[in-house]
Amino acid sequence: MIFSERPVSDIRKLHGEEHRRAVQELKKNVEAGKFTAVLGPRRVGKTSVLRTFLNHYRYPYLYYDLSPYIGLTGVSYQALTPALIGFETSKLSGEAQLSLGILKLNFKVERGVEFENAMINLLREVNEKYERFLLVFDEAQVLAFVRGVNMMGLLQMIHNTLDNVVVIMTGSMPGLLENMLSPSSSKPMFARYVEKIRINRWSLKEGKEYLKRGFDEANVEYLPDELEEAVEELSPVPGFLTIYGIHRVNGKKHGEALEEAIDEAVSLWERDLEAFLNIYNSKTYVRVLWILAQSRLGFSWSELKRELSRLETVSNPKLSRVLKNLLGAGMIEKRDGKYYIAERPLARAVLRMRV
Ligand SMILES: Nc1ncnc2c1ncn2[C@@H]1O[C@H](COP(=O)(O)OP(=O)(O)OP(=O)(O)O)[C@@H](O)[C@H]1O
Ligand SMILES: [Mg+2]
Repeated sequence: MIFSERPVSDIRKLHGEEHRRAVQELKKNVEAGKFTAVLGPRRVGKTSVLRTFLNHYRYPYLYYDLSPYIGLTGVSYQALTPALIGFETSKLSGEAQLSLGILKLNFKVERGVEFENAMINLLREVNEKYERFLLVFDEAQVLAFVRGVNMMGLLQMIHNTLDNVVVIMTGSMPGLLENMLSPSSSKPMFARYVEKIRINRWSLKEGKEYLKRGFDEANVEYLPDELEEAVEELSPVPGFLTIYGIHRVNGKKHGEALEEAIDEAVSLWERDLEAFLNIYNSKTYVRVLWILAQSRLGFSWSELKRELSRLETVSNPKLSRVLKNLLGAGMIEKRDGKYYIAERPLARAVLRMRV
């Protein structure tokens, strides 16, 4: 079946021009040895692009899934166990196997520095053994909150000394990822070396094509208006259209399937908003979103500032920062000088919040 709740890893199932282009870009960057970050809003298909790339090109890799820790402001290094090991571990030396055992937490270590050494040992060896080796972090902004090991130092070391190891990241909070990679302008500008690939929601047309393809394959009958309504209401977010598609394939009628998909989408956003606010820790974010959720006509900077002043006193630099982070997270968009909320399910979730 076309629709699946799990990330796509088969290139034939990866829908959308931008998504497929992202896979090619990843390939190019990896060949050139460039560290790369795949950035995009929640549920847009970042993990799918990554998994498809890994599955298709078969580079050896070590894959960390940090998505369970999004929104936490403290994560023990002991949470860092690889979710996928994509290489022949039996060919490693005894020492490197021991290091891998430490990284998998098969052996307990007492101190972060032992963990760091294990990582360095293993990477040194794969750097010798392979022409290319990928170290992959899904939702890498979480690394900024890892305690006990110096992840930034490790990444810097890999970049400077292990020529065959390439780091690939995804991130749904690019503002945070950038701060993490270059915390201040006086520090070495590590972020300068990270290439960025952005992926966005599908176009309305791509969204409808995706649904059509899935319905035709599963022999689900549909009306054109139903597709139209689904892509409008779910703001062609791949993850949300997938939920709707699954309900239809399971026999639900359009109205019920859409209602359930919207409900799920709104609850997912409620959870994400909580995580987002946990990290950014300011009521101004909710208030800006809440104002933007009131109207589909959008707000100019000065209109937004005026509306916000009714709720709080905010300086221009602060409003700029808030807007930049919301734009970076793909929660809002800017078109022709006006700001809009980026997704209908997000607008619904925001309107339920207290401001
Ligand atoms: N390009 C695509 N083609 C087909 N299905 C897709 C595509 N992108 C995403 N999906 C579907 O959408 C859902 C979410 O995708 P995925 O987990 O890759 O997104 P994500 O951006 O990593 O999300 P999250 O923010 O939750 O980590 C999955 O069920 C996946 O099957
Ligand atoms: Mg993901």
